[in-house]
Amino acid sequence: MKPDFEVAWRSPSNIALVKYWGKHGVQLPNNASLSMTLKNAHTVTSFKAYHLQSGLQVKYLFEKKHHPEFESRIKLYLESLLKEMPFLEEYAFEISSENSFPHSTGIASSASSMSALALCLVSFENVFLNKNFYVDFFAERASQIARLGSGSASRSIYGMWSTWGEIDGFPETSDRYASPIGIKPAPMFQKMGDAVLIVSSAPKKVSSTMGHSLMNVHPFSKARYEQANENLQALLFAMQVGDFETFASIVENEALTLHSLLMTSSDDGLLLKPGSLQIIDAIRKFRSQTNVKLCFTLDAGPNVHLLYPESEKQKVHGFIHDELLQFCENRTWINDGIGDGSQQISTKNL
Ligand code: PMV
Repeated sequence: MKPDFEVAWRSPSNIALVKYWGKHGVQLPNNASLSMTLKNAHTVTSFKAYHLQSGLQVKYLFEKKHHPEFESRIKLYLESLLKEMPFLEEYAFEISSENSFPHSTGIASSASSMSALALCLVSFENVFLNKNFYVDFFAERASQIARLGSGSASRSIYGMWSTWGEIDGFPETSDRYASPIGIKPAPMFQKMGDAVLIVSSAPKKVSSTMGHSLMNVHPFSKARYEQANENLQALLFAMQVGDFETFASIVENEALTLHSLLMTSSDDGLLLKPGSLQIIDAIRKFRSQTNVKLCFTLDAGPNVHLLYPESEKQKVHGFIHDELLQFCENRTWINDGIGDGSQQISTKNL
């Protein structure tokens, strides 16, 4: 049967430098966050809609195989969107997704997969319902729909750097959707590498839903939200003026703050491994001995993201091979960097 509507999007993952950790209401952040969009780690999602009158239906394939667990999650997500998109009720959907990166590598698959799906849904809304969204509104709407699936996915719509959450002095920012960063970063921040050092590929124990909710009872939560907003302002300034030292110190502090909160929220929040700490230690020693511009960040897991301006690539890659691979699981690392953001792709070859 020929679908009534068909579209496909490729959408990247992102790594937060100022972390979103803690939310309220319907997936609204307790502080603003800032992320770098990745280039190589992405999800490709193809989306087909068939008009039916019998209520929302979903068939979901992951890496070309039927995936009942993801299928029920996607169905729940689409049902949760009925208030926003009531027309979804009249369709059966065939959704098929593939990631360019392996599972549990410290690369957020929810960010790329939920943003890719949200872009397909907003394309459907736009074309099929004749909405004629202008480009900026399309992105804003896709970011808002992505946010309802996974908060961090809201930032994956845009290339380069993006922020999500209201920021003082930046009236275009919102808690409901992400936006491209409101400053022009200095050249060194326009071409950045991200080496993901895989310390462990075992699936993590703590779900982000659980983690966010534990922030509601954490004794330091209020101070944390204030600190995040201050860090974000200071980071924007450092990026604008090209101050790598301040950039590195805020980014590393944010990563360790996330893990301090995780560790002190529940027994399952101790996610760092000895190898993660050995890598962090080695990065700081190497930086102070050589003055090479590099720093680390962490997602909610043991793997370390090593960030550096492209101009330092040769030195950083040498350092990874000589000193860091010994701490990586099977000497594995993923070579990624800053990317251009999501893109609609042809459905012909899928
Ligand atoms: O998008 P969620 O609900 O999975 O939360 C992600 C939170 C972190 O990845 C830890 C930080 C962030 O801002 O991406």
